[in-house]
Amino acid sequence: MTLEPAPADTRTTPWWADAVIYQVYPRSFADADGDGMGDLPGITSRLDHLASLGVDALWLSPFYLSPQHDAGYDVADYRQVDPRFGSLADFDALREKADRLGIRTIVDLVPNHTSDEHVWFQAALAAAPGSPERDRYIFRDGRGPDGAEPPNNWTSVFGGPGWTRVPDGQWYLHLFDVTQPDLNWHNPEVVAEFDDVIRFWLDRGVHGFRVDVAHGLVKHPDLPDWDGHTAMVEGTTRTGGADPIEEHVPAPMFDQDGVHEIYRHWNDILGEYDGDRMMVAEAWVEPAPRLAKYVRPDEMQQAFNFEFLIEGWDAAGMARAVDSVMAANEAVGAPTTWVLSNHDVVRHASRFGLADPTGRSAGIGADDEQPDAGIGLRRARAATLAMLALPGSAYLYQGEELGLPEATQLPADAREDPTFVRSGGADVGRDGCRVPLPWEAGAPAYGFSPTGASWLPQPASFADLAADAQEGVPGSTLELYRQMTALRRELHLGTGTMAWAEEHAPAEGILAFTTEGVLVVLNTADRAFELPAGAELLLGSVPDAIDGGALVPDAAVWLRLP
Ligand code: NOJ
Repeated sequence: MTLEPAPADTRTTPWWADAVIYQVYPRSFADADGDGMGDLPGITSRLDHLASLGVDALWLSPFYLSPQHDAGYDVADYRQVDPRFGSLADFDALREKADRLGIRTIVDLVPNHTSDEHVWFQAALAAAPGSPERDRYIFRDGRGPDGAEPPNNWTSVFGGPGWTRVPDGQWYLHLFDVTQPDLNWHNPEVVAEFDDVIRFWLDRGVHGFRVDVAHGLVKHPDLPDWDGHTAMVEGTTRTGGADPIEEHVPAPMFDQDGVHEIYRHWNDILGEYDGDRMMVAEAWVEPAPRLAKYVRPDEMQQAFNFEFLIEGWDAAGMARAVDSVMAANEAVGAPTTWVLSNHDVVRHASRFGLADPTGRSAGIGADDEQPDAGIGLRRARAATLAMLALPGSAYLYQGEELGLPEATQLPADAREDPTFVRSGGADVGRDGCRVPLPWEAGAPAYGFSPTGASWLPQPASFADLAADAQEGVPGSTLELYRQMTALRRELHLGTGTMAWAEEHAPAEGILAFTTEGVLVVLNTADRAFELPAGAELLLGSVPDAIDGGALVPDAAVWLRLP
């Protein structure tokens, strides 16, 4: 019998496998020119903050030319910086300074749709039905006697219909806002254009891309009616059954098998460049084995693991999410990712302060249940401490290191998220997690901009949470984050081997695992939990995490076992 040589492992330890990646939302990070909108020079001026946080990379949400109908996820020119945010030279300066600080730069790629102001869409509107210009998008004739009914019943993720009619009677598909027409990924011109866009940014030195709506590019060829809910979080349906992959029926606009050919092709492009360039899929796909298809060795490097994010304050649920995603990723040989907050969901310091953190994923209004800020922050710190001990890469969202809550009292006229308008106010939208950051407690706009301008009003609670108010203060959330990233790095937790520590966690509501000689315990129960005697406390989520040898509720610790 001849032994087959083992396949070469190309994924040993590329930088992204255990990286802590910090999401910068350019509108709200720092505003250098004082117009109330964050910008690239503002980000560059605050990069030392990221260095002191000990992150490995930053991911920039879109800063491209855009009418900003969806906060930049409506791109009018993929190779230009929007003047609101600066210039290409400003981007280069940012990326070069980040490089000098040892921080890699990841940019957003928005391939599912363009802005309606993109030259291609303007050309499509000017051209006739059936023209090559229209074929770059998804134009169809309508149904009914005069074609006055949309081609199918799909709705927009942001609420309202998923189709809009143009003056000559045809309809175009937009899974998001009416200003975000979906591209036709069967058109070779679309494929070639994005190849070029990807190379444009790789040539400018970016280390990777976060791929927006990665599960949406290819639609079912028949565009069949779909009675399910079209939502980013619940984009697909569960059917249950013995084989979750085979028996799962994705919605016809999401997670179609054709997307994988695109990602194999992009992986080839990344391979032309040095330095382990990467892509991370934003794909709201269930169940975990289907999501893992996006991170097969010849596709993307990472996919956000939203199964963990949507768990409540429940150790058993968190453990299930960890198990399911790790097993699915191991099956394809990919490390996993962890994330608790981003610009689309309620900040976890507020989510965990709700009676049911799983009930509300996108926005809290003044008339909704208000989160308990104290409990929410304690739980958020504990969940983050547990998350940062898990093997794989972790994503942080700007402001979580300050313990920022969701802004729940934003006036209706300040809200910009299209979800708010398209749902007729029923869904308040995502502005509450996008409020400009507080840097200096005593400065106008808490130091966000030199003039005091701020595109969204900042809550008064931001004063005590400003970065300078937490700097050097033992026990502050900022100092905790610095300790977590430093110790995680020192102990190699990102590349660790974790195992559930059943013997140390016989109680309900307790999550406990070991990794690299560290015992991690998280208490989601309402009573204290006795810790093993003689263990050394490495880090606690709060200064009073341990009381008389027991871990208090809503807290977590990293312990060194005797
Ligand atoms: C996902 C992005 O994260 C979100 O902010 C955006 O609205 C949609 N994709 C549409 O691009």
